[in-house]
Amino acid sequence: MGELRGTHVPVLLERCLELLAPALGRNGRTVHVDATLGLAGHAEAVLEAHPNTVLIGLDRDTEALAHSRVRLARFADRIHLEHAVYDELPEVLDRLGYPAIDGILFDLGVSSLQLDAPDRGFAYAQDAPLDMRMDQTRGVTAEEVVNTYGHPELARVLRVYGEEKFAGRIASAIIRERERARITSSARLAELVRESIPAPARRTGGHPAKRTFQALRIEVNKELAALETALPAALDKLTVGGRMVVLSYHSLEDRLTKQALADRVRSKGPVDLPVELPGSGPTFRLLSRGAELAGEAEVAANPRAASVRLRAAERLDPEAAQQGRTDRERYRRRVKAMHQPGTGSPGSATDSRSTPGDGSGTDEEGEGT
Ligand SMILES: C[S@@+](CC[C@H](N)C(=O)[O-])C[C@H]1O[C@@H](n2cnc3c(N)ncnc32)[C@H](O)[C@@H]1O
Repeated sequence: MGELRGTHVPVLLERCLELLAPALGRNGRTVHVDATLGLAGHAEAVLEAHPNTVLIGLDRDTEALAHSRVRLARFADRIHLEHAVYDELPEVLDRLGYPAIDGILFDLGVSSLQLDAPDRGFAYAQDAPLDMRMDQTRGVTAEEVVNTYGHPELARVLRVYGEEKFAGRIASAIIRERERARITSSARLAELVRESIPAPARRTGGHPAKRTFQALRIEVNKELAALETALPAALDKLTVGGRMVVLSYHSLEDRLTKQALADRVRSKGPVDLPVELPGSGPTFRLLSRGAELAGEAEVAANPRAASVRLRAAERLDPEAAQQGRTDRERYRRRVKAMHQPGTGSPGSATDSRSTPGDGSGTDEEGEGT
């Protein structure tokens, strides 16, 4: 195994550390889960910053775990590195004897290790067998998907997971080609996609095969189904004051994250009551305003940061949650008053690093995410 340190640059590292610090830096031993350990860039920084924190690192990729084990060797007495899909977190915690956790990070998608590996088939830019499984010990490969799915299913995968406008044409080209010969290589697939896309469209939006490869990767690894289960399960495991940070690189991942958080920051009590009924208050508050983006300098230094969307939340003390409704009422009254003629505008709820038009999103504002 080669020395990999530094080959996967952790995205929004300082911001992640800043968001996790109040939860992990509390007195006594704290527990942090890195649900997508990868090459342990974020995990190493957390362990360095918090000498009393135990790390539980999950990855479905055995190669990533092997590299991380080497990288984190000096922290061996306070790490557990587990081969698991992140929706298996509750079982992993039970097995390791940790009923609750203080922090959790999801840094979704693929690592540079996977993208750059010549034999894994994730990259359209290099020829490799069409595998794309993050866990090469189990599951269906991309080769099986492109050679066995019917036209409607293939087109759906490309359209939904790749947001590919030419999904139908690409699916037709795949089916025509596989009747001639089985499609086994990433280069052949990339070429087929390029040929299916009208010439003017090829000149915009990056490599023409990018969206198809992303879609197949999401399908092969059932990424969205795992995320949809994992997020609520992870939130359930957080202690009061515990924090979750999610880095998404795709609108569907970000949408699932936003929904999972919205469900917890919203009051479930009647809207017109000035106080929360017991058990109906929000259980989390948002720490991010809308979805935070990487700054220009980071994107210039690390192109992977270009599509990142960060969302974060903290579990509330139930008493603070009771208080939430009155705070919310106060906030609403303040905004309403500011809208009265002659009182000026309510001001922007977004900060400059948030996604445009998506600024409603802190607990202060109550419901928006
Ligand atoms: C973007 S990388 C993480 C990089 C890491 N934060 C670092 O600094 O090196 C994502 C990792 O998550 C893993 N992964 C993706 N989906 C997963 C899932 N459902 N369960 C467990 N691991 C997953 C991938 O195998 C990959 O190694």
